[in-house]
Amino acid sequence: MKTVKSLKSMQRLAGRLKCEGKKIAFVPTMGALHEGHLALIRKAKKLGDVTVVSIFVNPAQFGPSEDFSKYPRTFKEDRRRLRDLKVDYVFYPDRESTYPPDYETYVNLEKMSKVLEGQFRPIHFRGVATIVTKLLNIVQPDIAVFGQKDYQQSVIIKKMVRDLNLPVKIVIGKTVREESGLALSSRNKYLDEEQKKRATVLYKSLMHARDMIRNGERNASKIKRSMRLMIDRMAGTKIDYIAITDDERLEQVRRLSGKFTISLAVWLDEVRLIDNISVFLGDEK
Ligand code: PAF
Repeated sequence: MKTVKSLKSMQRLAGRLKCEGKKIAFVPTMGALHEGHLALIRKAKKLGDVTVVSIFVNPAQFGPSEDFSKYPRTFKEDRRRLRDLKVDYVFYPDRESTYPPDYETYVNLEKMSKVLEGQFRPIHFRGVATIVTKLLNIVQPDIAVFGQKDYQQSVIIKKMVRDLNLPVKIVIGKTVREESGLALSSRNKYLDEEQKKRATVLYKSLMHARDMIRNGERNASKIKRSMRLMIDRMAGTKIDYIAITDDERLEQVRRLSGKFTISLAVWLDEVRLIDNISVFLGDEK
């Protein structure tokens, strides 16, 4: 496995691989790799001839009061895991070359970046859309793999790729969970064992919603209210949002039908967690 640090070298290398007819599969990450990332990388390896994983903690997607400086950085351990997986290239650019002092170009989705997470993290998706565009231009992948865990991010990236006619296929990999149901996340590193137990209330509330739907409930407000009651009963929680939205435009659904996603963001003490499940109700005529 080769580590590439320079943006130019990565871009040249990608150009060369493409000339050789190689299919590049790419997994962008911010490092602190866990089993969820590894599952995305395994998926990428099956889809392409050459696998590139990037590690870059992107300052542009963190708000001023967010955890950019304390975000876990575990490059040596990450590199070892990538080597074990036989990844071909790890792209590890630095902040100064990625965003030089005179940097001023950003990519923004006018509506979609303002809803759900965007209400609480106003610059987050501008930062995500910008770095993902830059990475796609540098790595030039045929396929890029993202996780369902970041539901809004996955919808936004698919939309951005359509809107900007980017020549890449976006593939979404399933959320990987602990046995308790807790979705794997780099931010779980901030939780101790007792907090992790309480954090399972996110998944439990999603399973509760799924059971209500299985039992015939179709009123989105009733489901969200019931989830809210369940989460509020757990010590140390504060809900940012619970939403049921369609997967194309991220608009709130009132009466459930077809395909939709139930997503939520909840503070557990000082740690903000997100999770979601997608539901498909077949033909219910
Ligand atoms: O999902 C992430 O880890 C990040 O948002 C991404 C896509 C690597 C962009 O920084």
